[in-house]
Amino acid sequence: MATVTLSNVRKSYGSVEAVRGISLDIADGEFVVLVGPSGCGKSTTLRMIAGLEEITQGTITIDDRVVNSIHPKDRDIAMVFQNYALYPHMSVQQNMAFALKLRKTPRAEIDRRVNIAAALLGIESLLKRKPRQLSGGQRQRVALGRAIVREPKAFLFDEPLSNLDAKLRVTTRAELKALHQRLGTTTIYVTHDQEEAMTLGDRIVVMADGVIQQQGTPFEVYHAPINRFVASFIGTPPMNFVEGRLAGDGQRLRFVAADSGVELLLDDAHAAQPAPIERVVLGLRPQAMALAPNPDPGKTIAAEVVVVELLGDQMDLVCTAGSTTIVARVRAEPGIAPGQRINLAVERDRLCFFEPGPFGASLLAGVRATVEA
Ligand SMILES: Nc1ncnc2c1ncn2[C@@H]1O[C@H](COP(=O)(O)OP(=O)(O)OP(=O)(O)O)[C@@H](O)[C@H]1O
Ligand SMILES: [Mg+2]
Repeated sequence: MATVTLSNVRKSYGSVEAVRGISLDIADGEFVVLVGPSGCGKSTTLRMIAGLEEITQGTITIDDRVVNSIHPKDRDIAMVFQNYALYPHMSVQQNMAFALKLRKTPRAEIDRRVNIAAALLGIESLLKRKPRQLSGGQRQRVALGRAIVREPKAFLFDEPLSNLDAKLRVTTRAELKALHQRLGTTTIYVTHDQEEAMTLGDRIVVMADGVIQQQGTPFEVYHAPINRFVASFIGTPPMNFVEGRLAGDGQRLRFVAADSGVELLLDDAHAAQPAPIERVVLGLRPQAMALAPNPDPGKTIAAEVVVVELLGDQMDLVCTAGSTTIVARVRAEPGIAPGQRINLAVERDRLCFFEPGPFGASLLAGVRATVEA
């Protein structure tokens, strides 16, 4: 197993800066997920770790050895891609054995490792089949098996589940996590799916525009986002944002929206904030609201329902408050219809505040204190 360290790593393709200075320490046995929108530099980062892409600047260290100029096959790490391209003319057994055969591993050792991996993945009965005789999920497991038999120091995964249908993705995800718990191999996993990131990672690293925005446990990143980008990227439905100001005498501040009529009293969790602020953005998780029978000034939001999306025991209410759209995920109940006026009670200890702009820094996240305590 291995530690992996990136120090101020950069990658340019001509004038395109794909990765703009990434520093990251990955501990032995850790499962780290790189997550971010398309084009933010996740695959490029992973490919540099694998040695498939030259590093423009900075250093990558695996177990205290700088690997910048070490050939991919000598880095002792295994990568699994989205397009796992099995050799079609080879059986599952041969596909899994191939890398070991190239290395002239003795026959008995190859068999031993293939059998262990097949048992681990539950594909023992498929060893004689050709890839075309397998389902998508089975093929994905063979691709994993190919990586496992190499007994690498670390696994690198680039969106390995994105070719699977939604249900299979969820079960395979759970299998991957269980596999990691059994093998304990250092794993770096890339996805653009924040839910996948949250469920898989010991730690998640949120990227945008070639830089790391925030890294932390899934809990930290969800409950104490460092800026508005992270707040909106992590969590479904995305956090609501309302522009406005903080008004009041410093004892008990109020958030007053610019144009939506939203007015909320700040909770004790935010009491440390001494002064009013002229321009802030309120961040409100859809899950931090509930339907309330009556208006309660400073504690509820008056809104009009536009769309009702039933999810089972919960429902998403797409509402408008003035000219602002707010999505609330509340307990499902019958009889809520578009056009209806409702009151949303807000869990005020869960309010977040940000500086203006898409990457506005978090100002006073009420929950942060709880997370750090
Ligand atoms: N070979 C290349 N030549 C030029 N630009 C490239 C090359 N490879 C990647 N890029 C650019 O680098 C940036 C990062 O690409 P990368 O593939 O790392 O993104 P990603 O985060 O993996 O995105 P996705 O979620 O879509 O896979 C993108 O703007 C991309 O267009
Ligand atoms: Mg990619």
